[in-house]
Amino acid sequence: MLEDLDVEQLRADTAGCEQSIFFNNAGASLQPRAVVARVIEHLRLEEQKGGYEAADLVAGEIEGLYGSVARLLHCAPEEIALQENATRAWEMAFYSLPFAPGDRIVTFANEYASNYIALLQVARRTGAEICVVDSDVAGEVDLAALQKVLDDRVKLIALTHVPTNGGLVQPAAHVGALARQAGIPFLLDACQSTGQMHLDVDALGCDMLCATGRKYLRGPRGTGFLYVRRAMLARMEPPLLDLRAATWVAQGKFEVRDDAKKFETWESAAATRLGFGVAIEYALTIGLDNIERRVQALAAQLREQLGEVKGVTVQDLGRVRCGLVTFTHERHSAGEVMQGLKANGIAVRTIERSSTRIDMERRHLEELVRASVHYYNTEAEVARFCSVLQAIQ
Ligand SMILES: Cc1ncc(COP(=O)(O)O)c(C=O)c1O
Repeated sequence: MLEDLDVEQLRADTAGCEQSIFFNNAGASLQPRAVVARVIEHLRLEEQKGGYEAADLVAGEIEGLYGSVARLLHCAPEEIALQENATRAWEMAFYSLPFAPGDRIVTFANEYASNYIALLQVARRTGAEICVVDSDVAGEVDLAALQKVLDDRVKLIALTHVPTNGGLVQPAAHVGALARQAGIPFLLDACQSTGQMHLDVDALGCDMLCATGRKYLRGPRGTGFLYVRRAMLARMEPPLLDLRAATWVAQGKFEVRDDAKKFETWESAAATRLGFGVAIEYALTIGLDNIERRVQALAAQLREQLGEVKGVTVQDLGRVRCGLVTFTHERHSAGEVMQGLKANGIAVRTIERSSTRIDMERRHLEELVRASVHYYNTEAEVARFCSVLQAIQ
């Protein structure tokens, strides 16, 4: 286990650690005290000064958030659009791309429901086809199968880096390399991976990436961002525009801005954005490599110990696995397990088939229990989790 993280200090920074064994970090993680304090401080300022006047006072700090996201992803601040969640970020990118009859959109079995619903809608509207590439024996993208389908008809590759229903980390950089080779735009849903592992958009080879604030980044709810590679920006027309995204330059004319802010709206919640900035800086200070190692080690320990709990089957796929650990129980529904754990002060979540329907149907899974660990969780919590689970018989 990693010794260079001061877990005691990280726990002291996290008020919620005192309340429960919190294994729902893939749902919405516990926020550090400093994040919550920044949000509240700004709400107080708005109370005193008014929303616009308060915003004027923190304009520099809000602008700094673009720099924080850019350092997280190793890109330029101009390539970042702040959004309210990962879904809207993904959609702003996706719906900006033109599709015509016969075009193909390549995706994979674990694509998230909201993304897939959008694919279905656009396929219905435009006559484009969705092509779901097979997974290999480990449950990862079958790269050879992917390479075979990449021809002139393919106008987009859409991949979820870490699916909502398990520990699998998709080989996104390999997919990105194939996308680049074929000259096809690559949209990566990094909603579950951001904040729990090192991400570099050049190494990943993605042209667009979306993420949310509340999961592994430990930010406030209602925050997120979209990254769009500079070279892609000119090729994308946002599906919705307002007076931030564009300027009304003459009565019959508007001009869309040329940076990623063209995907934003003028109105936003300054308080949560300030908190989001604190959360990102907090993660950067700990170091994403350190976070990744500790999260992976704790999750591996959890999987191993779950293997010894009677009636439990770990359902995670992939060669590389992350902090999301999913399992089924042979005698209890996922909801019963969640309630049993809750009664013992342990937070987990259930996952329904419809969140990642293609993968769940292929594996004949109706539902799962998802326990997702973060760096501030402990080995003792993992052991306690398994002993409580063992007692739910
Ligand atoms: C893989 C994946 N993508 C996207 C989302 C949607 O994120 P948000 O709720 O922030 O829009 C989720 C949420 O769980 C997710 O797991």
